[in-house]
Amino acid sequence: MGILKDCINKKKTSSIPIWFMRQAGRYLPEFRDIRSKNTNFIELCLNAKLSKEITLQPLKRFSFDAAIIFSDILLIPYALGQNLEFKKNFGPVLGDLNIERILNLSDNEIYQKLNPVYELIKNTSEDKTLTNKDLIGFVGATWTLLVYMLNKKSPKKTLDPNIYKNPEQDKILKKIIYTQKLHIKKQVENGASIIQIFDSWAGLLETDKFDKYIYQPTKELVDFVKSLGVEVICFPRGIKSYKKYCDIVKPSAISIDYEIDPNKIAEDIDIPIQGGLDPKCLLLDKKDMLKNAQKYLEIFKNHHYIFNLGHGVIPETNPENVKILVDFVKDFR
Ligand code: CP3
Repeated sequence: MGILKDCINKKKTSSIPIWFMRQAGRYLPEFRDIRSKNTNFIELCLNAKLSKEITLQPLKRFSFDAAIIFSDILLIPYALGQNLEFKKNFGPVLGDLNIERILNLSDNEIYQKLNPVYELIKNTSEDKTLTNKDLIGFVGATWTLLVYMLNKKSPKKTLDPNIYKNPEQDKILKKIIYTQKLHIKKQVENGASIIQIFDSWAGLLETDKFDKYIYQPTKELVDFVKSLGVEVICFPRGIKSYKKYCDIVKPSAISIDYEIDPNKIAEDIDIPIQGGLDPKCLLLDKKDMLKNAQKYLEIFKNHHYIFNLGHGVIPETNPENVKILVDFVKDFR
């Protein structure tokens, strides 16, 4: 357990904890090397040996305080028997939903598919690279998973309104939540010390539907993670009111996107805050990158703040810039 956990528990830390969403990914040549030899992305996620190696790659290069497991939120639809493929330059493509089959799947059938993830977590949490550091497990939020399962690909700026009209939707929602809990529990049992919930498409939901699709299911998951004795970070990307979200959902920490005004967040929210910096800042020259980073550090100086980005690292990012930024944050104060 490391300073990330301490910060979330509002303890004083020797430096500002830092990790990046998508820190294990395509901007790293050592990842691209493994990826080029493993063209099936799902198989790569389910290869416990290689996914461990990828999880630890960023920690071997940079002074991050936590590793996030190399996996994907879409392994839940996959475990529920939905066909899943990642098409180059397009993203994920999901198959038709066999609702009858999904509703009848047993826990064991689900575990069998996801077992390599738990093996990855067990082996990684015991690796000496993570001594005094945290291992972050994750799930996609119920709403974001529903979007992928019904929309069958990444949505653009709007959603097909038919998504709300599926007659079996309430049953699917229940099964997703049930499966998320199974997946979270196994991750924690195998050594994940923090759970992050990614609600990447929260910004697409109409406000009057928040209660049913976001607040209620996420609160249920947050309570569940807490009941396991582990901290939970929520990332409801693109929502208008982070304050209302925090008041209702009560995560242990909140991760903010790069579009929200950090000054307003600092004023409104008193739980630990994570992230914010636009990942595009890492494409700037060193001076401008650090100027932008400094802005977040100053704004959250009097908060429990975890340095991170407002979304994942962009594949075009130069690893050298990541190093400069991490070292800058580690030396701050
Ligand atoms: O380093 C990490 O953050 C851990 C690994 C991780 C991945 N996906 C690996 C990945 C995490 C935490 C995720 C979460 C995830 N997956 C989210 C939520 C966060 C977000 O980005 O909003 C979402 C929406 C997905 C679904 C997904 N997976 C999409 C839409 C794509 C294709 C788009 C893209 O960025 O390529 C993926 C593929 C994916 N997941 C890659 C990685 C490293 C790229 C795979 C490749 O082509 O090499």
